[in-house]
Formats: sequence, structure tokens, C-alpha cells
Amino acid sequence: MEELELFRTYPSTRSLPYTELAALPTPTQELPALATELGLQGLWVKRDDLSSPLYGGNKVRKLEFILGHALSEGHRSVWTVGAVGSHHVLATSLHSRSVDIEPHALHFPQPITDHVREVLLALSTAHPQLELINSKHALPVKMAQRRVKEWLSRAEEPYYIPGGGSSPRGVLGYVNAALELARQIEDGELPVPDAIFVAAGTCGTLAGLALGCRLAGLPSRIIGVRVIDKVLANPLVAANLANRTARLLADCGIDAPKIRRRDIEFVHDQIGPGYGEETPQGRAAIDLFDKWAEIELDPTYTAKAFAGLQHFDRQSNPAINNALYWHTLSSADLTPLIDTADISDLPQQYRQFFPDHS
Ligand SMILES: Cc1ncc(COP(=O)(O)O)c(C=O)c1O
Repeated sequence: MEELELFRTYPSTRSLPYTELAALPTPTQELPALATELGLQGLWVKRDDLSSPLYGGNKVRKLEFILGHALSEGHRSVWTVGAVGSHHVLATSLHSRSVDIEPHALHFPQPITDHVREVLLALSTAHPQLELINSKHALPVKMAQRRVKEWLSRAEEPYYIPGGGSSPRGVLGYVNAALELARQIEDGELPVPDAIFVAAGTCGTLAGLALGCRLAGLPSRIIGVRVIDKVLANPLVAANLANRTARLLADCGIDAPKIRRRDIEFVHDQIGPGYGEETPQGRAAIDLFDKWAEIELDPTYTAKAFAGLQHFDRQSNPAINNALYWHTLSSADLTPLIDTADISDLPQQYRQFFPDHS
């Protein structure tokens, strides 16, 4: 496996805890027919769906630094939070097991789709310790209770991973990803995109791309398509996360630029009724991408992200001629996991999500 672009560019960062999980660099792919269909001069996709044969997408890049940090501190278990169909909880559970760490997760409800059921079945095979709460609004109280319980029991505290893996350590994975893209541009694989579009949930992916592109001197506009509530995904959250990550780099002696709110753009009109709710524009994006790129999008994140690119006012200043869509959904085949999954490995409460299962 090649050395990470971050380590190659800034040798002092080799001191950052890291564990190799991903198959990098991920390829870029030009989509000329889809570009013509959308009236663009050029369209490229960054294939982070191929970032791991175990489970790819955007989480594995973050987990390389997060689990590396957990291991360096001697932790043998981690805990995190997410919606029941969370790709982050699935990625964390599968990759934690691969480095002999026990995964725990606190789940909250979301609309149940076939995709969510598949995620849950695959998740059951990693045997995480799961707890399901009734509403996402109960999350802060539940998380605080959990901390107190751990503290009182004086047991080994599992390493805490924020939702989406969006801690500064996790964001380093996307700083590296932006440097990787800059190298691919330098190697002539693609021109400098006028804009990079990506789904914005907990904003770690977006923050890392914004910081990494600035470090690499790429002038591309960085555009996050919001898929969760505005209080959680906005320029302030993304810039703050980028600047906290920059401090980790500063500790390695790197003069990282400050990211301002205006450095990160947001598309707010693709979320529809809410997180995890399908939208007509998202459904159309799924069909379009399937037809012209033969790549699968999911309704919660990537369909909305691509719809954000499709419907963006590209004539705005500065105009967008060449666009890059950063694909963040895993395309690893989960069938072997799903085929061996046993619903009874999930806690009893989860049976409600499988009404056809007797
Ligand atoms: C497929 C996919 N794309 C994008 C995102 C959003 O990434 P972030 O939370 O870093 O904004 C997620 C988060 O779970 C995801 O699963």
C-alpha cells in the first residue's frame, strides 16, 4: 500500500497515531456523457466508495486516524452514536473488529428503508454492543448518563468517537484525501475542478476537504450539500472542525491556514422533509447516476449530494464548468455478510424493523 499523501507531503505528521485500514488512493473517474447531459464541460467522481473491500465510503479514511489514536492510548473498545441505519456505526463496528477492538453504539430512530435494514443485518455480523433510544432528542441526556456510569464503575472507558467520526483526528483522513486529489491533479488525471460537491452530515468530510484543499493550494470551491438539520451542519460547525484539526497539524509544526466560514459553501435546499427522508430530486439523481455512471447512490446522503450538484446555479460567480462529485457511499458487497446475518444477534427491540421476519 502506498504511503499516505499527508505523510509524504509533511513527514512530521508520521508521528500522528494511525492504523492502516483503507485501500488508497481511490481512483477518480471522468463521466463525459453525464457531463454533457448536465450541460457541464467536465464532470469527475472521486471513488471513495472503493476505499475498502471490507466496507468503504468516507468513514474508513476517518477511522484510520481515530482507531489509530484509540490503539495508541491502549483502548480495546470504542463507542459511538448514530441513527439505526448509520453507515458510520457499521463502518466503525466492522473496522474495529478488524483491529481487535470491541465496538459499542448508541442508536436513535430514523425512517426505515430497505437500505437501513441491510445496514442493520450487516452490522449484526460484527456483534457490536447496541443500545436503542426512542428519540434523537434523548441523545444528550443518554450520552451524559453513559459517561457517569462508566466513571462510577471505574471500568476501562471505551474510546469515544463522535457521530460520523467527525473528531479532529477523523477529519485528518479528509485532509489526506484532499492532498491525494491534489496529487492526482498534478499527475494529470483530471483538471483542477471549479467546485467539489460532497454530502454534509456531521461535516467532517467537508471540513477535511476544505482544509486539505487550502493546504494544497487548490482554488476549487468546496460545497457541502446539507442532509441533516441546520443546527448540526452549517459553515460555523465545518470551519470550527477544520480549525480544530489545523491545531493537530500545528502540533506537528505545520503552518495550517485558518478556515473562515465563507471558505465553505452550503446547499440547503436538498434535504427535503428531513434526515433520511427520500426526495423526488434524490430519486431522480439515483436513476441518473445509475444510468450514466453505473454507480449506486443512497437516498439519505449521496442522492441528495448529487442532486445538489445537478440543481446548483452554475452560472453564479465564479462559474462552474468542471465539477467533481465526491462519492462517499461504500460499494463493498455486503451480500456475504447479509447472507450469514442472524436477526437474533440484534437486541430484541430491533425486531420491529423486520416485520416480515417471523
Ligand atoms: C454515505 C455517506 N455520505 C456522507 C456522509 C456525511 O459525512 P460527514 O458526516 O462527514 O458530513 C455520511 C455520514 O454518515 C455517509 O454515510
